[in-house]
Amino acid sequence: MTTGQVTLYRATFMHTPASPFTAPDTLQIQEDGALLVEDGRILAGGPYAQVRAAQPRAEVVDLRGGVLLPGFIDTHVHYPQVRVLGGLGMQLLEWLDRNTLPEEARLSDPVYARAVAREFLSALASNGTTTALVFGSHYASAMDVFFEEAARTGLRVMAGQVVADRLLRPELHTTPERAYAEGKALIERWHGVGRALYAVTPRFALSASEGILDACGALMRECEGVRFTSHINENPREIETVLQLFPGARDYLDPYERAGLVTRRSVLAHNVHPTGRELAALADYRCSVAHCPCSNAALGSGLFPLRRHLQAGVHVSLGTDVGGGTGFSMLKEGLQAYFMQQLLGSAGAVLGPAELLYLATRAGAEALDLQDLTGDFGVGKAFDAVYLRPLEGTTLATVLRHADSSARVLAALFTLGTGQDVAQVWVGGDSVYRRASSAQEVRL
Ligand code: GUN
Ligand code: ZN
Repeated sequence: MTTGQVTLYRATFMHTPASPFTAPDTLQIQEDGALLVEDGRILAGGPYAQVRAAQPRAEVVDLRGGVLLPGFIDTHVHYPQVRVLGGLGMQLLEWLDRNTLPEEARLSDPVYARAVAREFLSALASNGTTTALVFGSHYASAMDVFFEEAARTGLRVMAGQVVADRLLRPELHTTPERAYAEGKALIERWHGVGRALYAVTPRFALSASEGILDACGALMRECEGVRFTSHINENPREIETVLQLFPGARDYLDPYERAGLVTRRSVLAHNVHPTGRELAALADYRCSVAHCPCSNAALGSGLFPLRRHLQAGVHVSLGTDVGGGTGFSMLKEGLQAYFMQQLLGSAGAVLGPAELLYLATRAGAEALDLQDLTGDFGVGKAFDAVYLRPLEGTTLATVLRHADSSARVLAALFTLGTGQDVAQVWVGGDSVYRRASSAQEVRL
């Protein structure tokens, strides 16, 4: 239904409509710009004076004093883990056993799951994330409440029931038959409903038999448009165990590949320790990798070889990996990605503000095959946006006031920005979050 509602958002806006890793100068900055939005879609963008002259009667939303960016796209984040953020001092397998899986088992209670879903979704929105590929719960009932709550928030979510049939804890295990049946029913109920899409989600090869991977492959083949996500090559002990569990496998990717799970619409998280063959295969399948630098640091998983991925032609996006990561902020995730590439010295990739913005926005849209819908402010895209505006008295406000270029402004947002700086968030033109107090907002 169209309402003909036309709104003009007046703001300094920045976006990366193409990858700065493959093309020069892809960061587009419009100072005192305007985006014209009708029924949630961008009709035009450019200098305010020009867009306004063509639309003198449009309602104007004045967003001067801050910066408007495309909504962030988090391509790896776990809904059941919001309450167990901060489990420090462990590596992956111990962290799963002691910190995480006991909490995931509590989501067998749909009342508990609903409360967690609300906390999780509100944290996404208040951090400026408008689209997320969400690792779900092992329980179908917890996925029903998740999709219900997601529909209420208006966020774009891609999510699915997590399935496993070994080596976790018995209450989190299922069978291939049940995984297929519950997955199929969830897809029928939620895939393509409103802003939700379904992602087939075996937890990782370590907790999956060949049978359950095949059940996932069947869902992928039979259900048009569903996505796939899982973990890969995160931690050396994990990798060693996977290779023992699949004795004929060439590497960690092989069991996923054999089950038909590695596609253009697949996102594998981490990949900190890939082989050359795996990188070449990922590029051939056009499968994406979600880089989760805060989690890689917190769980001691390692320094992500971004340069090797880019050189092999593997598409990379960003994920917060809550709760292995350290929170929902994609600004912090971008900064941590930058740190870790710096620590790699000459083996690291160069990440300037354009690369960080791309990784946090458009790269995610490409990973999820949603680039025609979201990820930048191109004409025809949905108005999915985050308005960043620091509060008076913060260091970010000081730095922005003295920044001598818009690229410096963007770099400062990634360096100093937090959830507190998110003033408002829109998805498809609908406001999904607004900061409670505007009293202390700066006038830059
Ligand atoms: N591998 C399997 N499950 C998980 C998880 O919950 N978090 C992370 N970081 N890695 C995993
Ligand atoms: Zn994860």
